Amino acid sequence: MTVALEDAYARLLDERGVVFLLGDIDTGKTSFGLELARRSISAGIPTAIVDADTVQSSIGPPTTVGMKRIESPEDLEDERLFQADAMGFVGTIIPKGHLLPLVTNTAKLTARAKAEGAEMVIVDTTSLVSGIYGQSLKFFKMDLIHPDHIVAFERGGELEPVVGIAQRFTPANVIECDVPDEAMPRSVDDRVMFREEQFARYFATGTSRWRVKPTVFMPTLPPEFDLALLDDLVTGLEDGNGTCVGIGVLEYDATEDILRMISPVTEGVKGLRLGSMRIETSGRSRGPVDLRHLFGSE
Ligand SMILES: Nc1ncnc2c1ncn2[C@@H]1O[C@H](COP(=O)(O)OP(=O)(O)OP(=O)(O)O)[C@@H](O)[C@H]1O
Ligand SMILES: [Mg+2]
Repeated sequence: MTVALEDAYARLLDERGVVFLLGDIDTGKTSFGLELARRSISAGIPTAIVDADTVQSSIGPPTTVGMKRIESPEDLEDERLFQADAMGFVGTIIPKGHLLPLVTNTAKLTARAKAEGAEMVIVDTTSLVSGIYGQSLKFFKMDLIHPDHIVAFERGGELEPVVGIAQRFTPANVIECDVPDEAMPRSVDDRVMFREEQFARYFATGTSRWRVKPTVFMPTLPPEFDLALLDDLVTGLEDGNGTCVGIGVLEYDATEDILRMISPVTEGVKGLRLGSMRIETSGRSRGPVDLRHLFGSE
């Protein structure tokens, strides 16, 4: 049985906790999450959003999970929302084959939001809900995050398997809602443009170039590795304390046979995590990369 959105908001505001949003593409997850956040802060509830959508990212650049504490309605405006309070590096926009960093970072940032005092933590997710990957992704996320509430936006029967998993394997209160009539599909072109703009917005804050030692990567480069293979690879900048402080793009300099980092972040970086896609700082994707092929290993 589905409930009206207004009833879902009322119950969530009354009971609070970690709210996990579940739904296929263009079902209104993000819109619902933003409206819930708006109502939650109006009710004086300490609120945070964890954006686990690494593709259509609203908090932090694509390839990351972002967390933002919402303290005023202005924090929900595009530009402000984009400024993450904490990030986790996933390194790709394709969840398939990269479930581990997506799951662990979402759980890590949800726990952090709670530890920082948020009583309403809204977890927005990717639209990957079906097939083995979709079901596994949602199962492991829910298993690690322990949501108090799961809001499922259903169009037809597409969510049945994953809603069944939520009901059978988690103690969460599962709230099923119909997809609102206002939810409009966005075209593939619009999605690509939005993603590129979010990347570009991140790098537009002003980048520096700094030389990178080849010994600082995770995973570690094999001996005699051809550094040119890392040109344009998206990279996570880590502080050595479990926090991603930003992302950057590697640049190979053939004259000196060295790597440089292009990133708005220049300080507090101890290690670099290799991502699984190449991008230009304009935001344009240059395609996925399989590190196992690059390293010639399993
Ligand atoms: N309740 C609503 N009122 C008005 N417009 C809405 C509502 N819900 C969704 N929309 C519109 O429908 C479109 C898709 O909604 P939204 O981005 O929230 O869905 P989503 O499930 O997060 O999509 P994605 O799969 O891309 O993450 C957006 O353009 C949004 O503005
Ligand atoms: Mg969304």
